[in-house]
Amino acid sequence: MDALKSIRTDGDKVEIVNQLLLPHTIEYLDIQTIEEAHDAIKSMKIRGAPAIASLATLAFASNLSGALQTSPPPAFLSSPEALEAHVTPILDYLYTARPTAVNLGAATRRLARLLQSSKNVQQDAASVARELIAEARLIAGEDKAQNMKMSQLGGDWLHKRVGGSTKYLNVLTVCNTGSLATSGYGTALGFITYLHEQGLLDTAYYTQTAPYHQGSRLTALELKTLNIPSTMICDVMVGSLFQHKTIHAVLVGADRVAKNGDTANKIGTYNAAVLAARHKIPFVVVAPTSTVDLDITDGSSISIEHRPAVEACLVRGALYPPTLDANGKKVLAQVMVTPSDLEGIYNPSFDVTPAELITAIVTEKYVALKKDGETRFDLSKE
Ligand code: MRU
Repeated sequence: MDALKSIRTDGDKVEIVNQLLLPHTIEYLDIQTIEEAHDAIKSMKIRGAPAIASLATLAFASNLSGALQTSPPPAFLSSPEALEAHVTPILDYLYTARPTAVNLGAATRRLARLLQSSKNVQQDAASVARELIAEARLIAGEDKAQNMKMSQLGGDWLHKRVGGSTKYLNVLTVCNTGSLATSGYGTALGFITYLHEQGLLDTAYYTQTAPYHQGSRLTALELKTLNIPSTMICDVMVGSLFQHKTIHAVLVGADRVAKNGDTANKIGTYNAAVLAARHKIPFVVVAPTSTVDLDITDGSSISIEHRPAVEACLVRGALYPPTLDANGKKVLAQVMVTPSDLEGIYNPSFDVTPAELITAIVTEKYVALKKDGETRFDLSKE
């Protein structure tokens, strides 16, 4: 299932599948430098909060590992202080690629903290560098097991909540939160996969998720590859879906969750939450505890990334009817669907769903619920 693996590594070699070309073309890109990693994240060739943190840490590890093998060694390996002066701006630079997801900042901060503690113990820069490489590679792989754990915790909780009697559940998800967005299995999409594996799923509905179409391009590909029964809807059809079908839960991922449970996620998540509340459908956030940012009390301080205006005017995909080039490959195109000189375009990449609209927050450690009458969570107590 190569198409579902966002990052491939072999020693110091790091490759990503170019998600801008999916689902029509599977093309791997070699990421050799920190700048290439930064560009791949910023330009959305790789996306999804955990996956971008993994690429950043893997590129960082390969960069340091390459330096360790260079003869003579570069000047920054002459002392732990020189190494720190070299590494700190790299970590800061990687963090600037996309600001909303907590994972990237948490990963770079974790490496910066290790650098400080290791510097106090290790005598030489090479030993500090080796510790940083090991930690960076650890960060990149550790979310898959957490995803499986939270999917099981959440899936069992949801089945019980609907009385255990409803055998087949219909759920709605937004964006793409599967293997392509993580190091494997996925968060909300992992939850859906778990329901399917347990024989509890009827249909997974998913929104197209304009303007980047993570739903219609990526979630569609993942669900199809996994043979999970699914139905795509346009973003504007969520209300209609809730009026005409029995939906047992909305399951979404998260880019950052505040201490009180306010959750930043892909644009359109808030719309789905408002409609879910109107229809009394449980609205569930599925994210690892590393996505919970206890340093922020509520969602008002989450910085929301705005994407370039032109991206909201474009649709990309393969020509239809299918057209092949001289090498037998599908011809891909990017088409502008607005007047080319359109002004006044609002294009936030994420929105914040207030905790009062969220029924449960599922992590690898807990299913957080609000106490009777409360509108907020206190995730520091979970
Ligand atoms: O802009 P994207 O595609 O990176 O946005 C992705 C999302 O909003 C996901 O829901 C979130 O990162 C969680 S992925 C497990």
